[in-house]
Amino acid sequence: MVEVLVTGGAGFIGSNFVRYALARHPDWRVTTLDKLTYAGRRENLHDVLDHPQHAFVHGDILDAAVCAPLVERAELVIHFAAETHVDRSILGAGEFIRTDVEGTFVLLEAARRAPRLRRFVQISTDEVYGSVPTGASRETDELRPRNPYAASKAGADRLAYSYWATYNMPVIITRASNNYGPYQFPEKVIPLFVTNAIDGLPVPLYGDGRNVRDWLHVQDHCAALDLLIDQGADGEVYNIGGGNEVMNVDLTHRILATLGRPASLIQPVPDRPGHDRRYCLGTTKLRALGWAPHVPFDEGLRDTVDWYRRNEWWWRPIKEQDLAFRSYYRTQYGR
Ligand code: NAD
Ligand code: TYD
Repeated sequence: MVEVLVTGGAGFIGSNFVRYALARHPDWRVTTLDKLTYAGRRENLHDVLDHPQHAFVHGDILDAAVCAPLVERAELVIHFAAETHVDRSILGAGEFIRTDVEGTFVLLEAARRAPRLRRFVQISTDEVYGSVPTGASRETDELRPRNPYAASKAGADRLAYSYWATYNMPVIITRASNNYGPYQFPEKVIPLFVTNAIDGLPVPLYGDGRNVRDWLHVQDHCAALDLLIDQGADGEVYNIGGGNEVMNVDLTHRILATLGRPASLIQPVPDRPGHDRRYCLGTTKLRALGWAPHVPFDEGLRDTVDWYRRNEWWWRPIKEQDLAFRSYYRTQYGR
């Protein structure tokens, strides 16, 4: 059996990856390590918690005593765990620096002592490149992160790289574009707008709404990671972009139209400080290994909207009963 450690496996992408891995790799034994912050939820893994090839460990990547035995027996480490929401990083950056930078350091230190380790995947992000006015970011481009989340991820990205360069560790770094799909916490734009619109509530569109994101379905992301675990080269960075550049205002209209809601639900609100105008990833390097995204954006968005419609059990308790979420919402958006 291949021992696989997935950090942050109770979050959005991590839980989709755990499910993907268990379905495709009967010879993998997957351990999820997750602190279950506000964004990490056992519900995200409800159908695989009792899977015979899966174990869940409730723990913090900052806790070296918890990480050491898990990392030291792993052949593959896929490191998703992070604080991930830009708006929260603007309200307070401390937890981002601790988790995203120091937490990565703790895991990398443990990984230095892992005798069977053959892959450490540092899950980075396209946000490390900063705003891209024209063209597409290449892996060799300068990093110009412009918000505390992006900066903490850039720190972790380069720290992981340094452990390859210095200690010859089998590190690869992946920089994905904005993901969408099931189990995404309803603070991010797609699940927030979909669930607000289902309830006929306003959707708060930042600034002029003309910022562009390059959307990637989470299943296409999982497939890319699966390929890179096998085919990626040590010390290399790989962009994973969906190739679906969409302006926020257009995205919002599509969501409202899919739900049969009026455009009058769009509520223009003050812009996010330092709001990156556009992200766009060049994916030549990854495509050369045989990957291409398979989920057309229209279809993926429709299925995602449907998923939130069919799974109110999953998001209603967060939006209606979780006091921490309600308090965050008030702070971020006012009443
Ligand atoms: P998420 O916020 O949904 O999940 C993060 C998970 O990490 C949660 O389960 C949380 O409990 C866990 N976690 C946080 N701090 C921890 C700690 N100290 N110890 C253990 N677990 C901890 O995030 P996501 O959207 O699934 O993102 C996963 C990774 O992918 C992150 O590294 C993020 O930077 C990266 N990424 C995300 C996107 C995107 O669009 N969502 C795009 C590119 C890269
Ligand atoms: P988000 O989902 O927070 O992802 P990221 O900041 O990592 O790209 O936001 C996606 C886009 O949607 C971004 O341009 C900001 C915008 N946005 C809004 O207009 N309103 C909102 O309430 C949120 C959360 C995001």
